[in-house]
Amino acid sequence: MDFALTEEQRAVRDVARRIARERIAPRARDLDRSHTYPSEALRELAELGLLGVNVPEAYGGSGAGAVAYAAAIMEIAEACCATSVVTAVTNMVAEQIVAWGTEAQRKAWVPRLTSGAAVAGAFALSEPQCGSDAAALSTTAVRRGDRWVIDGAKQWITSGDHAGVVLVWARTGGPGPKGVSCFVVEGGAKGMAAGKPEHKMGLNGSSTVPLVFDGCEVPADRLLGEEGGGFRIAMSALDGGRIGIGAQAVGVLRACLAASRRYARDRKAFGKPIAEQEAIRWKLADMATELAAAELLVFRAASLKDLGQPFSREASMAKLFASEAANRATSQAVQIHGGYGYLDEFPVERYFRDARVQTLYEGTSEIQRTVIARQILR
Ligand code: CAA
Repeated sequence: MDFALTEEQRAVRDVARRIARERIAPRARDLDRSHTYPSEALRELAELGLLGVNVPEAYGGSGAGAVAYAAAIMEIAEACCATSVVTAVTNMVAEQIVAWGTEAQRKAWVPRLTSGAAVAGAFALSEPQCGSDAAALSTTAVRRGDRWVIDGAKQWITSGDHAGVVLVWARTGGPGPKGVSCFVVEGGAKGMAAGKPEHKMGLNGSSTVPLVFDGCEVPADRLLGEEGGGFRIAMSALDGGRIGIGAQAVGVLRACLAASRRYARDRKAFGKPIAEQEAIRWKLADMATELAAAELLVFRAASLKDLGQPFSREASMAKLFASEAANRATSQAVQIHGGYGYLDEFPVERYFRDARVQTLYEGTSEIQRTVIARQILR
């Protein structure tokens, strides 16, 4: 594995870094406090090609690959985790339509995502009674003539109330994974309604809603991939998505290290900066070491994806390690800041709340271990 970014990957990273520092970071605290969806940032990210980093230019993307994508998400997450998750899910949805769609579907839907016209993409897999056991989903899609009729309920859908393009998984056959199909549903479709945004611990700038499908009719050409092939689409989407969440965790680790380093140098106790206390120095050293390891795991998984090699296990390892490390780091960052870490005057309390979901969404840490162990034992 080559550890250096190529010129193209560096260029994408630098574009993401600039917008993250100049436009996204200054708004992060307000978005969190006011629970405001980052619509403006999404428009700006679309203009820079960052809603389709790994999407071919023919469909409005940057065509820069998975390593460039991971590097971009790291920058955005360092500035604002909430903005990074809506960006990541939009990229993931666009990539799936490119990977599994017909040429007509690609042309119809992907440019809407990459240009920002659709605002965002949403990934509607989880349901009130099934998160980890995704193959148990009970939303149905029934074929009636030249249409599919979708009925059921989805839960925890990032951007579900803003997205112009929603991937929806529904049962078209018998029980288990082989009975699941995937559909492209246009935001605002008749029969699809978003519920009230959830009150979450963190990621307040990203909207998370339930979606209800009540006789939602979509034309037959909205089936993505084959009938009964939806579970495979979900799993391979999540493989890529887990690189995105790993990258997001790296962004949080970087933000924690920067804030903790700054505070430790400024804050004095017992007549000297607390950075001179061994207790603090060891926390910084551990944080920096785990950050370096997380970066390598994320880039390794992304690099395998770019090479067209299997990367499912590596994506799970990257997501597992990076998200757990980010949670350790946010906790230690609050500890380093002492009482100030508990106030919203300093950003670390937001990092602490935002990072918590990283060991849950796109597969819990336990699911990542399941994926890794299955592959070791295969
Ligand atoms: N790529 C392609 N195909 C895959 C695959 C992969 N990575 N993993 C499994 N499959 C295929 C299998 O080959 C199998 O097909 P065949 O029988 O034809 O071989 C089929 O899918 C079923 O696979 P499993 O038997 O492994 O299925 P399972 O029911 O045991 O589930 C699981 C496996 C890993 C536990 C899976 O259910 C899983 O990943 N669960 C977690 C779901 C998840 O991450 N949800 C996140 C919600 S989305 C979200 O959070 C987004 C957001 O808004 C931020």
